[in-house]
Amino acid sequence: MSPDVMVVGSLSMDLVLQVPRVPRVGETLAGSSFETFVGGKGNNQALSAARAGAKVTMLGKLGGDEYGKVVLETLKANGIDCKNMLIDQTIGTGIANIWVGPSGENCIIIVANSNGKLSPGDVEEAKDVLTAAKTVLLQLEVPVETVTKAAVVAKRGQAKVILNPAPAPPSGSLPGELLANVDILVPNETEAEILTGIKPHDDASTEACALKLLDLGPKAVIITLGERGALMVSRSEKGVEKLHIASYPVKVVDSTAAGDAFCGALASRLATGASMEEAIRYGCAAGALACTRAGAEPSLPKAADLDALVASKV
Ligand code: RIB
Repeated sequence: MSPDVMVVGSLSMDLVLQVPRVPRVGETLAGSSFETFVGGKGNNQALSAARAGAKVTMLGKLGGDEYGKVVLETLKANGIDCKNMLIDQTIGTGIANIWVGPSGENCIIIVANSNGKLSPGDVEEAKDVLTAAKTVLLQLEVPVETVTKAAVVAKRGQAKVILNPAPAPPSGSLPGELLANVDILVPNETEAEILTGIKPHDDASTEACALKLLDLGPKAVIITLGERGALMVSRSEKGVEKLHIASYPVKVVDSTAAGDAFCGALASRLATGASMEEAIRYGCAAGALACTRAGAEPSLPKAADLDALVASKV
């Protein structure tokens, strides 16, 4: 099968606590709930792309535990092609411990487990699908050598490569070989600041930050700005193109996976023929809708909801 979107990345079980605030060192705090959700940035982006309407294939590595089975079943139930999915029976599935505060803000600690075992060799095994995909979507919860290999192999084919640099690595540590093979870099404000040292807090600083990211090598940069929407910058013979897309105001319940929703919907729309402007609009709508429900997987919107929200503001 030639996928619209191929995601190479992480899959995890999210262990989510509702907390009144971040505890101090040595303090014990009472949370108000505990739930588990299927998550992981790669998994969330694959689900988002599939729900937005694309044919999606996932390459990732699960552990030989119950969590791995639940994650795999969820991918399949959402119509995602899992022929390239791998299971390592010697290790557990990736875990994310997430604290969600009263305003929907979150803190996340991940333990890579099986995600840390996805290797460049695993990518090589899947090269035929990677080179046939229209869009390849990457993040940084699997080893960076594996992400780099995926970008390089994808560019042997026709794919547009999108990198969500999350979690953000220290400034200067992303390999040049990776950035040179990225078409669209999609950080959020925090990741953009870590990568550039510029805090994108207003229009001028956001633009300066985006241009500095563009200088790292990708063909385009989209900084997601939460309630401020998204800013895209790209360079062509005509000069620098800028595009600011406004967000969709919503009541935030839990912002977990909003960035993943954006990336999945963006990749889905680009792979199915939309313009960059329309694809970013769908990304903003997906990110906004993902904030309105608790948890990663349950919050990722379906195509009909995305269409309705985008149509509400033309
Ligand atoms: O981006 C949100 C995701 O980050 C969560 O689902 C969690 O698994 C962490 O990896």
